[in-house]
Amino acid sequence: MPRQADPPSPFVVAQRERLLATAPLGPVLDLACGRGRHALFAARAGLRVVALDRDASLLRKLAEQARAEALPIRAMRADAESALGLPFPPACFGAVLVTRFLYRPLAPAIEGLLATGGLLVYETFTERQRELGHGPSNPAVLLETGELPRLFAGLQPLASVEGLVEAGSRRDWLAGLVARKQA
Ligand SMILES: C[S@@+](CC[C@H](N)C(=O)[O-])C[C@H]1O[C@@H](n2cnc3c(N)ncnc32)[C@H](O)[C@@H]1O
Repeated sequence: MPRQADPPSPFVVAQRERLLATAPLGPVLDLACGRGRHALFAARAGLRVVALDRDASLLRKLAEQARAEALPIRAMRADAESALGLPFPPACFGAVLVTRFLYRPLAPAIEGLLATGGLLVYETFTERQRELGHGPSNPAVLLETGELPRLFAGLQPLASVEGLVEAGSRRDWLAGLVARKQA
C-alpha cells in the first residue's frame, strides 16, 4: 500500500471558509505539495487545485489519488527554486498554500501569483525547531522570529502565529501567516 498523505495542518484547516471564498478568483496553488495533504483537503472542500512539487513520484501518487476520488487536482512538476521562476502567469490563483517549505527569494513571486483579494496561507518551521532534534536544521529553511509577515509585507496580514504545535505524535516549532492581496 502506498503511504497516504498525512492529515492536513490544523492551521490550514482553520482557513477553510476563507479559502472557499476565494473560489471565484482562481484555483488554489499548493506549492511544494509533497504528498498533497493540503491539495487533497482543498479539493475535497470543493476547490480547484494545482499541486506543484519537484518530486515526480509524489506527484504521480497524488494524481492517482485525485483520479480515484474524481478530485480537480492538477499535479505539476516544477522546481520552485529555478531561476526561470514559477511556470504561471501573474495573478492567476485565488489562494496559495505553502507548508513546511521555505525558499526566501520566492516570496515576491508568490505575492505576484495571487489575484486581487486572493489569500496566502503559509506555515513552516522556525529556527526553534533545532531545539527538538528532529526535522530541518538548516537555517536556510528555518524562519526567524516574526519573519513571515516581513517576507510578505506587501500583503494584508489577517492572522500571524508562532509556537510549539502538537499534532498527532509530532511536536514542531511553526510559524503561520494568513494574508490577503489587496488592490
Ligand atoms: C517537508 S515537504 C512538505 C510537503 C507539504 N507541503 C506538506 O506540508 O505536507 C517539502 C516538499 O517540498 C518539495 N520541494 C523542495 N524543494 C523544492 C523545489 N525547489 N521545488 C519544488 N518542490 C520542492 C519536496 O519535494 C517536498 O515534497
